[in-house]
Amino acid sequence: MNDNNKIVIGNLKMYGSRASNQEHLGLLKKDLNNLKKTHVGLCFPYPYLFQAQSVLEGTQLGWGSQNVAKSDNGPFTGEVSASMLQDFGCKYVIVGHSERSTAYCESNENIATKFKGVVDHGMTPVLCVGETLIEREAGIMERVVSGQLETIINNYGPQLFKNTVIAYEPIWAIGSDLAASPEQANAMCTFIREFIEGANNAKIEGLKIIYGGSVNSENALQLFVLETVDGGLVGRGSLKPEEFIKICKIADQI
Ligand code: 13P
Repeated sequence: MNDNNKIVIGNLKMYGSRASNQEHLGLLKKDLNNLKKTHVGLCFPYPYLFQAQSVLEGTQLGWGSQNVAKSDNGPFTGEVSASMLQDFGCKYVIVGHSERSTAYCESNENIATKFKGVVDHGMTPVLCVGETLIEREAGIMERVVSGQLETIINNYGPQLFKNTVIAYEPIWAIGSDLAASPEQANAMCTFIREFIEGANNAKIEGLKIIYGGSVNSENALQLFVLETVDGGLVGRGSLKPEEFIKICKIADQI
């Protein structure tokens, strides 16, 4: 990935249907296929990956999933492996989203294993990190986020972050209409880069650090214009094609 280009990833969460996706993807394909420099990705529920692949193959748009299994194959009922995602042409895999780690008690250890599996299968993990409101108010957000990154660094080394994406998603900003301020996003994205590159004693090539949590077409410019923020992970703003197109075009104009 070129280091100066922004990346915008839509997390469609558990929304959509075959009919609505068909229309949605058609509009995005028409409007976003000639962006000059921004990478765009869309992360779907598993059953729609085949549809995403059939509509988006051959375009500039990447697609992917919102989770992956820890193991590559075996007796794991209900799980979907990294090699299956690869089989459907996935480029991006969201790992460690707070809606999963809270609801399904996902540990940092599990998240680290998934992150490694995605890299090993030639896809780009989008690792979500971020603190709760209580943790922010207690002033320990850096400690929380560094703890989330440390498991990967300790198990596999900081170089595993090469050509990957980290989304700083403060839990209090997700689904809240209260995005982090540009100052807050800047401070945490800077901290994340310094933490990983400090562990590596050098720059990490191709590492993108993006912001997620109530990104919309009103606040995208003030967040994306920051040099430390390489783009956005967009939830609700990706559900309406016109809104997502606007956000991606804002990124592309910077
Ligand atoms: P919203 O953009 O809806 O706040 O969701 C953010 C998010 O969780 C993206 O992964």
